[in-house]
Amino acid sequence: MRTVFLIVLTSYGVFGHNGTFPPNFLFGVAHSAYQVEGAWNIDGKKDSIWDHFVHESPSRILNNDTGDIACDSYHLYKDDIRLAAAVGANMYRFSISWSRVLPNGDTTIINRRGLRYYERILQEVRRRDMIPVVTIYHWDLPQSLMDRGIDWTNPKLVDYFVDYARIVIRQFPHVAYWVTINEPHSFCRQGYGLGAFAPGIRSSGKDEYKCIYTALKAHAAVYRMYKREFPHYKGKMSIVYDIQWYKPKNASSAEDIAAARRGLDFDAGLYAHPVFLGGWPPEAEKRIAERSRLANLTTSRLPAFSPEEIAFINGTHDFFGVNIYTGVLIENLPEYNKSISSYEADVHSDMSFDPNWTLEAGYFAFAPDTPLHVLKYVKETYNNPDIMITEIGASDDGSTLYDHLRVKLFQNYFDSILRAIYDHGVNMIGLTIWSLIDNFEWASGYGIHFGIYYVDMDDPRRTRYPKMSTVYVKQLTSHNRL
Ligand code: NOJ
Repeated sequence: MRTVFLIVLTSYGVFGHNGTFPPNFLFGVAHSAYQVEGAWNIDGKKDSIWDHFVHESPSRILNNDTGDIACDSYHLYKDDIRLAAAVGANMYRFSISWSRVLPNGDTTIINRRGLRYYERILQEVRRRDMIPVVTIYHWDLPQSLMDRGIDWTNPKLVDYFVDYARIVIRQFPHVAYWVTINEPHSFCRQGYGLGAFAPGIRSSGKDEYKCIYTALKAHAAVYRMYKREFPHYKGKMSIVYDIQWYKPKNASSAEDIAAARRGLDFDAGLYAHPVFLGGWPPEAEKRIAERSRLANLTTSRLPAFSPEEIAFINGTHDFFGVNIYTGVLIENLPEYNKSISSYEADVHSDMSFDPNWTLEAGYFAFAPDTPLHVLKYVKETYNNPDIMITEIGASDDGSTLYDHLRVKLFQNYFDSILRAIYDHGVNMIGLTIWSLIDNFEWASGYGIHFGIYYVDMDDPRRTRYPKMSTVYVKQLTSHNRL
């Protein structure tokens, strides 16, 4: 009897799922404008802060790489969409370049050629029976706004963002899923705290808190505008967060457990709590206020929300968008000198990788079961929302088309998603793999590869080649089985 039971258990997976995604589960691929399009200054497009950043001298980008040509998807978008269809994708995520549509960032010039480019992408995506997921902001603020001091530290940006969003939303009524802003945590931390991303500002906590505040207001204003002005549109809208698995370094240390919780609170909670629960996460808010006081500041470095702002931002979501890549080990650090006020000092925890995890080429590690931990956190913390994983993937150095690590990571991460669904009741809409093609990986240029297709950057035609992961994904989608 016991043997029979075990056999049944094994053939259906020890974790209670049979290796198949639920019937309506959407499975797609993703990329973003600056990372793939190229054509940085043609057909009426003007600079974004990334165009500006990569052309600075000395460059802060690995090998002085730029996105000037990137994968040339401006011209090759049909190939990209065909390659997505070839692996059986039924969802296609891309972003719109703000300064391609509004070269000055404001509505003084509306660039019809820019709008037509995205119209053609959407037509092609529909022709291939894929569902479009469109990101309105994936980090490429128009430089013209930046030059006028209207950036993420300035709440005036909110109105400009709403004007831009209104134009693209009106133009593209059939978008199924809108993402207002991609990973505010990444560009607020890296762009305004550490200075590694455009606009390259190092502020030690001053500007990054302002950036979070403006980003949340901008997201909410677009969401409210969408619901008010386009009530007959069917598309769902939300914001996308990057969330890691924060594993306490020492599982029996109360300090490390608290540090992991604090890390999550700062890196995810500051962004998600206002949208899904209302207001700043109380612990983080208290902590930043206390430390600001100790540093002799008269007000907290975290901008205060008025009760109206809390209500305005709260509930502005139709799903929970999350990008999942890696786990991190969190160790408690002794409190920083109390007179230091910075993001790091406020969190005072240290991140490393578990030696059992496989390091990837960039800044991530393949930490088995990461999606399960992240999805459970989202479900338990944010009232069991419908979740879309808007990015999931692995990085390597691109030296081989036999990308075993990526395939191994997909096998484990997809299995872990199924366990989240079937064993833990997580509500999933679907996922999009990052990325369809190798592309410009921000400060790491073309040194890190995330694609399931290889792009030959030395070839002026930017030929795309399948990898082992291409075949893996195609098999998975055609049999709907891991
Ligand atoms: C998140 C970002 O959205 C994307 O632009 C980036 O390339 C990937 N993570 C990989 O780092």
